[in-house]
Amino acid sequence: MDKVKIGLIGLGARGMSLLKGIFLKMDDIEVAAVCDLYEDRCNEAAELIKSERGVKPTVTKDYHDIMSMPEVDAIVIGASWVEHTNIAVAAMEAGKYVASEVGGAYSLQECWRLVEAYERTNTPCMIMENCCYGRDELMVLNMVEMGALGEIVHASGGYHHDLRQEIAEGNINRHYRLNNYLNRNCENYPTHELGPIAKILGINRGNRMLTLQSVSSKARGMSTYLQDREEHSELAKSTFMQGDIVTTIIKCAHGETITLTLDTTLPRFYSRGFTVRGTKGMYTEDNRSIFIEGQHDEFHHSWKDQWGNVEQHREQYEHPIWQKYLEEGVKSGHGGMDWLVISAFFNSVKQQTEVPLDVYDMASWMSISALSEESIALGGQPVAIPDFTNGRWINRK
Ligand SMILES: NC(=O)c1ccc[n+]([C@@H]2O[C@H](COP(=O)([O-])OP(=O)(O)OC[C@H]3O[C@@H](n4cnc5c(N)ncnc54)[C@H](O)[C@@H]3O)[C@@H](O)[C@H]2O)c1
Repeated sequence: MDKVKIGLIGLGARGMSLLKGIFLKMDDIEVAAVCDLYEDRCNEAAELIKSERGVKPTVTKDYHDIMSMPEVDAIVIGASWVEHTNIAVAAMEAGKYVASEVGGAYSLQECWRLVEAYERTNTPCMIMENCCYGRDELMVLNMVEMGALGEIVHASGGYHHDLRQEIAEGNINRHYRLNNYLNRNCENYPTHELGPIAKILGINRGNRMLTLQSVSSKARGMSTYLQDREEHSELAKSTFMQGDIVTTIIKCAHGETITLTLDTTLPRFYSRGFTVRGTKGMYTEDNRSIFIEGQHDEFHHSWKDQWGNVEQHREQYEHPIWQKYLEEGVKSGHGGMDWLVISAFFNSVKQQTEVPLDVYDMASWMSISALSEESIALGGQPVAIPDFTNGRWINRK
């Protein structure tokens, strides 16, 4: 297959930025159909495609219409979280490769539906976790595979992103996050940090996540933000259920622990807080440093002087994917990782092979949201994380 024809479903902020910044810049991709519930978003996308490529795509408000288009090879889902599974299952049933944007699940049943649709149809379904292709995330994966950090014992990360403005403007921007923050309390966005950690720990491939415990702080960030702004006086009367900081501890089958932190409604700098701890060393994102036993011991009491030493390790540990990418020229989207994850998906479609971040990754990573909601409601009690592979994790490569 030389050209991949896609249907793009969900044309909000993310769908449009993928269209403009990536799909329309890839000569081997044709956007054959676009879909959103909002007509103006459909029209904007269709006009853009017409002006760039000279052909107007099929436009629909009902994604089922695209499933019956035989010429469409793959579906890209940029819709809001609650629709990911419905669209992905419909696409698998129609025999179309699926690339789904990231998000968390609302129930475990949703995650099982994904797995069962895949096993019934054999149609690959990929979670587009771009952070798995981040430069440092891949470098640390490479370091772990080379044994530079020893045996991995613990990893942590978070979605540390001040989203107060985006949430507050939800009624203006027609954005789904506002209603989630008003109604739910959970680790609602686990995959940006969990995806790269899961790859490092071999989750679903020789290891698995067994249990989690989640605890939530009170919710004060949104109400304070809204009360301070006259234009939001109506929304300021609402009660937000989503705690400002949600901490989740996951225990894995081989004894490792993972800590995730959702931190989106207090003032702060952006970070994914990616940290990996092994018996021979550590990496930490927030001060961009690598500590390897033996190499740096003399500084361990005055480590602040060594902050930012990641660059010194590039030559030795840069992941081959990034070595090649730097030679070819880094492209757009979150420092280049968006282009990489999307290219990996399209390569799988062209070669009709399995996708690198598969349905078992998608189901297990997304399940954390539903399970954390349960654990928080139970006062932080441990809850079991299902084995979505039904035992195959032991031997899966
Ligand atoms: N990987 C990343 O870095 C990244 C960045 C931003 C957003 N995202 C993800 O992208 C997705 C969309 O986020 P966003 O910020 O663009 O949200 P958004 O609210 O701006 O857009 C979502 C769009 O989906 C549409 N939609 C909802 N249900 C639909 C349906 N049944 N059929 C067709 N369209 C439907 C909505 O009408 C809306 O236009 C989310 O899953 C989000 O987590 C990922």
